[in-house]
Amino acid sequence: MERSADPSGLLRGSDGGAQKDRVVTKEEWLQKWEMGNIGFHREQGHPLADMGHSVVGVEVSEQALKEFFSEHNLPYCEEPVPEIPGGKLFQSTSGNISLYCCSIYDLSSSIVGKFDGVWDRGALVAVNPCDRQRYVSLMINLMEKNSSYLLVTVSYDPNKHKAFGFNHAIVV
Ligand SMILES: C[S@@+](CC[C@H](N)C(=O)[O-])C[C@H]1O[C@@H](n2cnc3c(N)ncnc32)[C@H](O)[C@@H]1O
Repeated sequence: MERSADPSGLLRGSDGGAQKDRVVTKEEWLQKWEMGNIGFHREQGHPLADMGHSVVGVEVSEQALKEFFSEHNLPYCEEPVPEIPGGKLFQSTSGNISLYCCSIYDLSSSIVGKFDGVWDRGALVAVNPCDRQRYVSLMINLMEKNSSYLLVTVSYDPNKHKAFGFNHAIVV
């Protein structure tokens, strides 16, 4: 199936049909960041650290992480993650924001620990449908018992509407 991305970053299938076989590769994500094709991006909206929480994130694009620290005027340091070949940890100098540069599938609780809460904004919607089960298993593995999960997702008919992200009317 042919697939293309328009300037807003949305995905478009030539048949406008089901999304289940679509795959967005790491290279395509890196290219979106390089080209500024990031309609999903919001400069504000990261209050958790300001509220005193320790925040851990993961992003495959190093450019995205560097831009995050720069947009928020936050000094940071950068170090390799021995357990993840090629992986890096970007940490705010204040220590309460730790952002891993790697694939989320490289993470495990032995590397990042377990979390009291997850704010999933723009993550599950970007997970390729063929990877959903793997993603869900990973998130369960990363959560403490009784932790909270705030999921921001989209539900729409991809045959009728164009939208960024995969439709989640049905999630595994
Ligand atoms: C829809 S964007 C959302 C970005 C951010 N969470 C937000 O809300 O603005 C999805 C992000 O996931 C990143 N990404 C895609 N696949 C990934 C993976 N396997 N591991 C880590 N990050 C990934 C992309 O580079 C992209 O920045």
